[in-house]
Amino acid sequence: MVKSSSSSQNAVLDSLADPSYRKEQDSKAMSKPIQFYFKNVTEEIIGPEHGLSKKELDKLAAQIAEITRAMASERAAGNLPYRDLPYQHQTVEKINKLADQFKGRFDNLVVMGIGGSALGNIALQTALNSPVYNLQSNSQRTGPRLFVIDNVDPVQFGAILDFIGNDLERTLFNVVSKSGRTAETASQFLTIAESLRQKLGNDKLKDHIVATTDNNSGTLRDIVDREGFTSLEVPDGVGGRFSVLSDVGLFSAAMCGIDIAELLAGAAAMDERVKSEDLWSNPAALYAAIQILYYRNGKPLSVMFPYSYQLKDLSDWFRQLWAESLGKATNLDGEEVFTGPTPLNALGTTDQHSQVQLYREGPNDKVFTFVDVENYDQEVTIGPSGKVDELSYLSQRKMSELIIAEKQATEYALLQSKRPCLTLTFPAISAHTVGQFIYFFEVVTSYAGGMLNINTYDQPAVELGKEATFALMGHEKYRDLLSQIQKTCQIDKSYLL
Ligand code: PA5
Repeated sequence: MVKSSSSSQNAVLDSLADPSYRKEQDSKAMSKPIQFYFKNVTEEIIGPEHGLSKKELDKLAAQIAEITRAMASERAAGNLPYRDLPYQHQTVEKINKLADQFKGRFDNLVVMGIGGSALGNIALQTALNSPVYNLQSNSQRTGPRLFVIDNVDPVQFGAILDFIGNDLERTLFNVVSKSGRTAETASQFLTIAESLRQKLGNDKLKDHIVATTDNNSGTLRDIVDREGFTSLEVPDGVGGRFSVLSDVGLFSAAMCGIDIAELLAGAAAMDERVKSEDLWSNPAALYAAIQILYYRNGKPLSVMFPYSYQLKDLSDWFRQLWAESLGKATNLDGEEVFTGPTPLNALGTTDQHSQVQLYREGPNDKVFTFVDVENYDQEVTIGPSGKVDELSYLSQRKMSELIIAEKQATEYALLQSKRPCLTLTFPAISAHTVGQFIYFFEVVTSYAGGMLNINTYDQPAVELGKEATFALMGHEKYRDLLSQIQKTCQIDKSYLL
């Protein structure tokens, strides 16, 4: 239980330090189902102009049933491999075995990847390890420090290199790239390989690199085969943004002490909840139907608003999943549609003080998804207010009561302004519930893509930017593209102030 103390400072410090709280929460709520609450998008709550009626949603039931059947047959034919990732028990064994070999030998793990090859790793770490994990001592941490570098900012990359520079002997690098040709990841990899060669010698390279890439082809696969690096695979047919429950996300998670078997067990439990053809029994289908209905009816923006620091990077992960999957120029019939809801994220309570003014009084063009938590992992007792009557309402209350009240208060305020609000509730944040959440949103995305009649799994628009980068960096094969870019992007000084 949380300790209380008469001294305010001590009360906070005692409760922060109390590990028994975590155990208690774990045993109670660790693997309970995430709940989806949708009453606050109904016309009963926010009126007929902005609220949805059962009749409107019922009209989508037939389409949902059809998409469910199509997904089931695609899955059975092996064309939707992300849906089967929760059942890769051999993967769990393989990864845990590998992590056991490496743990203890390394104090730092650096993941080099971008987009779908990084956001899941970051999200798992933020959700399931301490917010101060990297600051903890070797004995406190459940694995090496984790750095996921998903950029080529020379200041950020340089600073991390400086930090680990004297500790290369105790640093493992996991380069993650399905294609192996992404400029950001490739440049990081080349830099690190050179550093390792210079400081430790060429023959030590392979002791410090794990490469996660396509099993059969690609630039990184060729390097792995040539150099004999330990390798993991991005499964066939699983795009980066759907790959967190594969080797891509699981290796760094296992290295940092996250229970990856539980993560997959949570995803498998969610799989059972999202198979129904009935709109009203399938939370992923209903969530997608509500979002797409609003998208069609003048609310193209979708805000994910978690009330937990631990969940903030899961909303970043979701933002990529939703944007890359649903933002498409053409539909499956080849017609131009330029479709896709825009995902945004905010963090409670922080963004109450930066965004809510707009959310309440700006255009009513957004759907809100709150994500809240019933049992926080840790408790803090607010200090006593003493003689300050004005603050007595806070005196020695639990900080979790405050954050829960703030979520309700913000939702209430949005509803007063007739803004539609959904809520997903975590009974507690655990590997199991995070696995549920990830799988839920992957399936939601498939439903939303099905409703928009688009290819959910490609990302043709990202490719041009990647190729333009190759051209601008002088890649031989992209000379023609370079001259086109120069024509378009040349600076016209008459427009410079
Ligand atoms: O989701 C996706 O497919 C993308 O975000 C990719 O993961 C990202 O572009 C990185 O690609 P790669 O893994 O080939 O380096």
